[in-house]
Formats: sequence, C-alpha cells, structure tokens
Amino acid sequence: MSSEDQYLQYPKLRKFSMSKTRWGIIGTGDIAKKFAAGLSVLSDSELVAVASRARKTADTFGDSFHVGKRYSNYEALAQDPDVDVIYVSTPHSLHKENTLMCLRAGKPVLCEKPFAINAKEAEEMIVLARERKVFLMEAMWTRFFPLMVRMRQMIADGIIGEVRMLMADFGYRSEDQNLWVFNPNFGGGGLLDVGIYPLSFSHQIFGTPNQISTIPHLNRGVDEQSAAILGYEGGRMAIIASAIRTETPQVAYLLGTKGQIHIHSPWWKPKTLTLSVNGRPAELIEVPFHGNGYNYEAAEVVSCLREGRTESNTMSLDETLSIMRTMDSIRAQWKLKYPME
Ligand SMILES: NC(=O)c1ccc[n+]([C@@H]2O[C@H](COP(=O)([O-])OP(=O)(O)OC[C@H]3O[C@@H](n4cnc5c(N)ncnc54)[C@H](OP(=O)(O)O)[C@@H]3O)[C@@H](O)[C@H]2O)c1
Repeated sequence: MSSEDQYLQYPKLRKFSMSKTRWGIIGTGDIAKKFAAGLSVLSDSELVAVASRARKTADTFGDSFHVGKRYSNYEALAQDPDVDVIYVSTPHSLHKENTLMCLRAGKPVLCEKPFAINAKEAEEMIVLARERKVFLMEAMWTRFFPLMVRMRQMIADGIIGEVRMLMADFGYRSEDQNLWVFNPNFGGGGLLDVGIYPLSFSHQIFGTPNQISTIPHLNRGVDEQSAAILGYEGGRMAIIASAIRTETPQVAYLLGTKGQIHIHSPWWKPKTLTLSVNGRPAELIEVPFHGNGYNYEAAEVVSCLREGRTESNTMSLDETLSIMRTMDSIRAQWKLKYPME
C-alpha cells in the first residue's frame, strides 16, 4: 500500500515531515503478533523493540517481525530512549503494573483491552497519565475501523432516526480450559475478554447505563457465558451477550425510529453492514479495511502523539473508566470477585 492510500483510509492521520514513530511491544503472545503485523502497513511507524520475560521468545518474535532490539525484561524496554510509544499486550491482570511502569518512564502507552481488572486499577493508571501528561489509550481496536467511522456518521446524520435499541454479542468456544482466560488469577472470563466489545459499543452509542440486569453462568471462578440488558435514559436499551465456551453469531444491530443498521459478522472487525431505512429497499454497504485492522488503532495513537494530544477523542480515558465501572457493576451482581481484588 502506498502512503497515499494509507492517508485516504485514515483521514485523521495527517502528513507530517517527521521521522517514523518508534514502537516497542511488551509481551510476545497472540495479540502482540497481530499488532506487529498491523504496524507493518503503517508507513510512518516502525517497530524498533520488543520485550519478553525470556530472551528466547524476544528473539523469536524479533526475528519474525524484524525487530532490532530484544529485551528479556519489560522494564528495560520502558527505559529505552529510542522507543517513542509502548503497546502493552500482556494478560489483563498485568495491564496496570506494566502500564504504570511505562508511564513512570515517561512513555506513551497503548494498553490492550480490558484496560484493567477493575475501575480502581483503571483510575490509578489514568491519574498517573494525566499527572505526567503522557498519552494513554485503551486498545479498543473495533472503534477505529473505517466502517465504524461511517456508522458513527450515519447515526450523527440521523439516517435511522433516534437509536432506541442495540443488540450485540461476542462469544467463541475455547476447548482448552488451561488457557489463562479460564483462570480467575488473570481476570479470566467472558466479560473482560470479549463481553467488553459489545459493552464498549453500547457505551459509545448510549453512554453510561442507569440500569443493569444480568445473568452469568459461572464455572471455576470465571464467567463462561453471560447476558445483560443495559437501560438508559428515555427507555433506550442495549442487549448484549458474551461467552468463552459457546460460539455466538457475533453480529450487531442498531434499531432506530426510522430504520436499522445491521453490522455483519464479525461485527467487531467489520467490513459490511446493511442499512434498512423505513420505506426504502435495504442497502448493503461495504467499507473495507487495509492491513489486519490493528493498524487503525495504531494510526490513531500516532496521530494523537503528533498533534501533542495525551488522550484520544474516539476512545477517551473517561469512557474507558466508565466502561470499567459498568463491568464492575455487572460482576458485583454476579458476586464475581477476582482473587487480587
Ligand atoms: N484487541 C484484540 O483483538 C485482542 C485479541 C486477543 C487478546 N487481546 C488482549 O490482549 C491481552 C493478551 O492476550 P493474548 O491473547 O495475546 O494472550 P497470550 O497469547 O497468552 O499472550 C500474553 C503474553 O503476555 C506475556 N505474559 C506476561 N506474564 C504472563 C503470564 N504470567 N502468563 C502468560 N503470559 C504472560 C507473555 O509474553 P512474554 O512471554 O513474551 O513475556 C505472553 O505471550 C489480553 O488482555 C487480551 O484481552 C486483545
């Protein structure tokens, strides 16, 4: 892809005659690999360093993604003066510790979702970032897809009228219950892993709920599946579901007074939607994306850094905190507390 194409795909990213933004990655797991692949399509970003708990995994990752600097501990990467921004890709329970360490070293951070285990942890991270005036953002990549930008414009233009109801789900079936996502010590369970996607989507459309009704199925200290109905002012509502032992359709619907938007599966990595406006034939709208999709959240970070912003408007820290508080309220209804809480 030419750099011209890249700017067309992501209009907020302006052309600057600056050198490339130098990224470092903490953790070398599944998502770190996908993020590194995403970064590779951004002509103004460069992955310069990776840190793992072990030299061998840092080297393997470094070889795969042509990363020059490989560290066998996370702190060394945080202290590297040649790194401009750090992507934290460790399990949920380590996000706070890893992010605080980077912020203390003065490094901007893109931290994987869920931002933290609970709102208390998230608040600590946000307070430090704001005190130090260092950039921080939750890596809720779904928000930055071109289709999501288009969908937000449709809503703002009132094409489907007032949105009255939202339905969205994200559930997958994992056969391997030895994964950390089944372990309460890591903040496991469906809500924090994938339920956060429909929840974050609901927050984006409706804001903070004033009512929550929810049911989980808990097993061995984590939620294997759950559903929730969130209520908002004026009777608007969101119906959301998540699972880590059940595959779900992974679709999203926005139901308005004048029509509907159906974001096709997988809605959290969207390419197509159907717009149905009352009295008109349904329209299939395709909004493709470049790269593997992770490039768009990275582009947002680069854009913020170059404009001297310490927070993203599309995924603000206030909203991240509000989402964390809603997850706390949902878990409180379930009486699900993690061992570290
Ligand atoms: N945005 C998305 O699409 C998306 C998708 C999947 C996951 N995620 C999020 O990304 C985070 C990581 O998920 P993942 O699927 O990449 O997990 P993963 O494959 O298990 O990788 C996590 C990495 O964290 C590091 N780590 C540090 N301490 C660890 C410990 N005690 N146990 C296990 N790993 C440890 C490891 O890297 P080293 O060995 O190199 O230190 C490990 O490879 C989670 O918070 C998850 O919710 C986001």
